[in-house]
Amino acid sequence: MTPATHRFRPVSFSQTTLTELMIPSYANFGGKIHGGVLLSLMDKVAYVCAAKHSGVYCVTVSVEGVDFRQPVEVGDLVSLRASVNYVGRTSLVVGIRVEAENVKTGVVKHTNTSYFTMVAKHDDGTNAEVPGLTLQTRADVRRFLEAIRRRELKKSYREELDNVKTNLTIEQEIQKLEGERCKVEWMSK
Ligand SMILES: CC(C)(COP(=O)(O)OP(=O)(O)OC[C@H]1O[C@@H](n2cnc3c(N)ncnc32)[C@H](O)[C@@H]1OP(=O)(O)O)[C@@H](O)C(=O)NCCC(=O)NCCS
Repeated sequence: MTPATHRFRPVSFSQTTLTELMIPSYANFGGKIHGGVLLSLMDKVAYVCAAKHSGVYCVTVSVEGVDFRQPVEVGDLVSLRASVNYVGRTSLVVGIRVEAENVKTGVVKHTNTSYFTMVAKHDDGTNAEVPGLTLQTRADVRRFLEAIRRRELKKSYREELDNVKTNLTIEQEIQKLEGERCKVEWMSK
């Protein structure tokens, strides 16, 4: 059998859509759908897409871009469209577009677009190499490049945060809190 690293699969091979009716038990006390319900569906569709591309079991490593722009209502039909945006050696990024449709009015709301990084696993739990990605459309190329950019930005963001953590004294940290809605009250030992 050809090793995964020598194989390439097109984005279309693993593109997946999951559609689910928002039932009353998914609602919060305000009558809107729990964010956690949507997150769980996103994780599910990301898994299907990643497992299909890689041909093995996958785990979720990181989730980016989960900003719910609009509430989802009970009775809405939620569709989650997932496709592989990027592949590394053992990881891949699945982009998911979530839309909620009011079946009575036909109005479709785009609630969020998020990115799940998944890692492929062998049965013994070690990381598995994933097949390459064949880019067949302009959108495929754009998404691959955007994923590389997000990866770079995440790296520099982490480095920036680490600098903040290591360079400041406690007095400097407290000074930075000025104007924030918090107060420092040390606990007595
Ligand atoms: C995340 C995990 C796979 C990292 O494994 P590791 O043996 O430390 O391997 P590496 O550091 O080589 O990382 C493996 C890949 O994941 C990527 N990765 C690791 N952490 C990442 C992060 N926070 N964000 C994005 N990608 C990440 C690496 O870049 C690497 O990608 P590549 O092979 O395509 O270059 C491992 O810690 C794990 O299995 N975690 C548990 C995941 C899980 O169970 N999730 C379910 C939710 S409970």
